[in-house]
Amino acid sequence: MKKIVILISGRGSNLRSILQAQRLKAWEADTVQVIANRPQAHGIAVAKEFGVPVTILDHQACHSREEFDAQLLEKTQSFKPDLVVLAGFMRILSQEFVQFFQHRLMNIHPSLLPSFPGLKTHAAAIATGVKWHGATVHFVTQEMDVGPIIAQGAVPVFPDDTQPTLEQRVLQIEHSIYPQAIEWFIQGRLHIEHGNVRVEPAQQQFFQLPITP
Ligand code: GRF
Repeated sequence: MKKIVILISGRGSNLRSILQAQRLKAWEADTVQVIANRPQAHGIAVAKEFGVPVTILDHQACHSREEFDAQLLEKTQSFKPDLVVLAGFMRILSQEFVQFFQHRLMNIHPSLLPSFPGLKTHAAAIATGVKWHGATVHFVTQEMDVGPIIAQGAVPVFPDDTQPTLEQRVLQIEHSIYPQAIEWFIQGRLHIEHGNVRVEPAQQQFFQLPITP
């Protein structure tokens, strides 16, 4: 059994989709711990619903960024995870953390990278007038929102979209590509070559929602 640790800060809808897939598809992996940096994170209740133990590491209770970073690294290491999954974790990780979990640290970003790194991606997509938007699952490297891309999911942008309607559509695709990427990892099917990720045996790494306005 591989061990997964999931880091969250908020709502936990990706966490739910991952725990549902783990249960439904009988992965040879177990989410051994959820770590939340906000005591009010709704995702804490989601973890409990699935019987996953939760550690709360409140960054506001720490005296400095260094103290939080050290605690987060130590805590996460203590569970000896094969894979660390960022599911809406809104803190920048320390270099040490990223280095230690290199190639076993995944993130989901709500845009088709390299378009729209950073925050407020849906508003940026609407403002730019792109007709396709989406989400990217990638391995985490030192530079934010740049690491090797594992899977991408595209959704259409409609003329009357608002930030919330577009976010909802992107979340739908997030909830299918994140569990898929994790499943590939667990099955040992992800290979990184020259910064590119291949799935072996080969499988489509792009997805899209049906276009029905
Ligand atoms: C998602 O949009 C994800 O792409 C981004 O943060 C959000 C987390 O949402 N990294 P949730 O907490 O999983 O519902």
